[in-house]
Amino acid sequence: MRSKIVAGNWKMNNNQDETKKLLATLSAKLPDTTAEVMVAPTFVNLSKAVNHLESSLIEVVAQNMHFAENGAYTGEISADMLLNIGVKTVILGHSERRAYFGETDELLAKKVDAALAANMRIIFCFGEELEERKSGSHFEVVKRQLTNALFHLKPEAWSKIVLAYEPVWAIGTGETASPEQAQEMHAFIRKTITEAFDATIADGVSILYGGSVKPNNANEIFSKPDVDGGLIGGASLVCDDFVAIIKAI
Ligand code: 13P
Repeated sequence: MRSKIVAGNWKMNNNQDETKKLLATLSAKLPDTTAEVMVAPTFVNLSKAVNHLESSLIEVVAQNMHFAENGAYTGEISADMLLNIGVKTVILGHSERRAYFGETDELLAKKVDAALAANMRIIFCFGEELEERKSGSHFEVVKRQLTNALFHLKPEAWSKIVLAYEPVWAIGTGETASPEQAQEMHAFIRKTITEAFDATIADGVSILYGGSVKPNNANEIFSKPDVDGGLIGGASLVCDDFVAIIKAI
């Protein structure tokens, strides 16, 4: 059975004081839910966040990691460093990493392999750009992103994968994909995984939607059968909005 997940990607926001404050209010206001709730603070605040949330159901996840075990990679962070401070899940492939830091499908395949080798769980992000949606190539783009980064995996690896479909044109723009567009793509993703692997794997993987999810649209998006939750950016920085989105699931 796939799980419902609401994850907040804080991106490069919140210093240590702001992180502590937001986590304190979030812990206090966390609604009863069967969904998994996650937050992804920036690297320097991960350790504090893990300690702060020790007795909480909220999981702390990382926004990125390097593929090498260790070595001369100035400014980078390894899977072992994350695990050592209690972080067991990592976001990989976010469109901002792809657009601003040149991360390619091939690089992401290496990061995926490294995270799995370290027994970490992965929230793997992908999604088309506006031009690709306009030209009608969005299905092809998504299939290529999945194929290049994930379809070399062994079937059993999929228990460690969560997918996050994030159309780039909907990220931080206030323009969300319609619930129908999200459902259509999520169903396509399951069909693509069924063809490459099998229906058990396709039905078992959680697929989150990300891109301008807000309290006023979360309900409708989450009501779609192939949408298992959300990867939330801006709204996850506002405690009441994030709580409302958790309630919507
Ligand atoms: P917004 O919710 O701000 O559009 O960001 C989505 C996102 O990029 C989550 O990873």
